[in-house]
Amino acid sequence: MLAVLAVGLFLLGLASGGSPNANLPHIVMMLVDDWGWANVGYHRNPPTREVVTPNIDGLVKQGLELNQHYVYQVCSPSRSSLISGRLPIHVNDLNVDPDHYNPDDLVSGYAGIPRNMTGIAEKMRGAGYATHQVGKWDAGMATPDHTPKGRGFDTSFGYFHHANDYYNETIGVCNRTPIVDLWDTDKPAHGINGTGPDNYEEGLFKERLLNIVSKHDPSTPLFLYYAPHIVHKPLQVPG
Ligand SMILES: *[C@@H]1O[C@H](CO)[C@@H](O)[C@H](O)[C@H]1NC(C)=O
Ligand SMILES: *[C@@H]1O[C@H](CO)[C@@H](O)[C@H](O)[C@H]1NC(C)=O
Ligand SMILES: *[C@@H]1O[C@H](CO)[C@@H](O)[C@H](O)[C@H]1NC(C)=O
Repeated sequence: MLAVLAVGLFLLGLASGGSPNANLPHIVMMLVDDWGWANVGYHRNPPTREVVTPNIDGLVKQGLELNQHYVYQVCSPSRSSLISGRLPIHVNDLNVDPDHYNPDDLVSGYAGIPRNMTGIAEKMRGAGYATHQVGKWDAGMATPDHTPKGRGFDTSFGYFHHANDYYNETIGVCNRTPIVDLWDTDKPAHGINGTGPDNYEEGLFKERLLNIVSKHDPSTPLFLYYAPHIVHKPLQVPG
């Protein structure tokens, strides 16, 4: 599975009020998977009619474009690298399934980020941030320490594997029982799978993102990590 990833960091104003964190920016970190370099409008000169991304172009214009910032060739190592702040070769260079489990090998026995490494959310929390994750994780799940909650996110909503089904969030079956890969912090997101606008996973993520932002107390700085499933396979459009 080849992955091209784009990472965006958007700084949205400063935390307000008289709190000690009043000068810290709110941060939204976005990671998009399998999105080609030429599939954003600001990389198309002259502009084309098939690649039109005005909102993203606008964010780049106001922000910082890191157009020679390379990622690993596949997904989980790129995510593990971003979350741990280490080069993939020092954190995870395998794209194995996230339930890979071998407790005899403490360093490489689990998929994703080795258990004893520190993640960006732990650091941000230490600096006074509220921390939330929405979307694709794919940086380990074999023990609770490997999940977003174990890595310092106050809340998380999304899936753990490389890809699930956009309409019902399953990743196949086990003994004829469908496996639903959709999680709400530390529990299965029961009752939420197979629902949402257009019955579509990205719609569920959007609802959660808006909910986090609208409920957030702006006097606390916000760190929001959003990794959409879209445009990764399976090739399924909203119903
Ligand atoms: C994690 O644990 C392994 C095995 O005990 C050790 O070799 C490695 O240095 C540890 N890494 C960190 C970042 O603590
Ligand atoms: C989920 O949807 C896929 C098609 O998108 C279908 O093949 C699969 O059977 C569905 N699983 C369940 C449990 O409904
Ligand atoms: C959600 O998943 C559960 C299994 O965990 C399944 O019984 C239920 O039918 C699913 N709901 C929808 C709407 O797909």
